[in-house]
Amino acid sequence: MHGMDLSVTVLKHPLIEHKLSILRNRDTDNKLFRATLEELSYLLVYEITRDLALRPVQVETPLAPCPCQQLAEQVLLVPILRAGLGMVAGILNLIPSAKVGHIGVYRDETTLQPVEYYCKLPPDCEAMRTFVLDPMLATGGSLIHAIARLKQRGLHRIMVVSIIAAPEGLSALQTAHPDVKIFTAMLDERLNDDGYILPGLGDCGDRLFGTL
Ligand code: PRP
Ligand code: URA
Repeated sequence: MHGMDLSVTVLKHPLIEHKLSILRNRDTDNKLFRATLEELSYLLVYEITRDLALRPVQVETPLAPCPCQQLAEQVLLVPILRAGLGMVAGILNLIPSAKVGHIGVYRDETTLQPVEYYCKLPPDCEAMRTFVLDPMLATGGSLIHAIARLKQRGLHRIMVVSIIAAPEGLSALQTAHPDVKIFTAMLDERLNDDGYILPGLGDCGDRLFGTL
């Protein structure tokens, strides 16, 4: 792991670099894109869950009793629709007990402002360890809006998991939510005039769902 400052961590790993090269490639088809995003999400979450709380349990092996440890806290995944959906399955493979809430936000194509159209969270989720999932952190508007909505609903243990971030969006997100830790696989150069990340990977939702 490579820390940039207290709230942003760019996760460095050869497998992450390799998979990013597949995701970025314009010739990667929808099927491989989906599989690779899933694998990358799995790798990121493996890295950032090192501090999850454990509780002692006694297990009987075929040979003897054995003191073991099991997860003691409830994890909540909140993908931002649509592209965040592509991160859920990989993480659920790793943490099958995680609950999943959904928040639907799209960027208005002209203003780039976030527009919310859906929000469904599990009951009693306020104290859960919450990972907000969005592969693309561009202007930061979508994540800033989604996190504000989650805070309004009482959630307060929030972390962001993204794949590619632009410096402009990172700094906007840090300013809006300085208490939220942000994890990303890559910090790219900048946004273009249309608010797309350069070099980026194009439109993530379209590449995931074949709506290009
Ligand atoms: C994309 C992406 C992020 C958002 C990032 O969503 O999935 O949610 O843009 O941009 P921002 O940081 O400037 O807000 P999009 O609006 O394309 O919706 P979609 O996922 O439904 O395609
Ligand atoms: N959303 C995307 O899918 N890609 C970008 O580069 C920016 C926002």
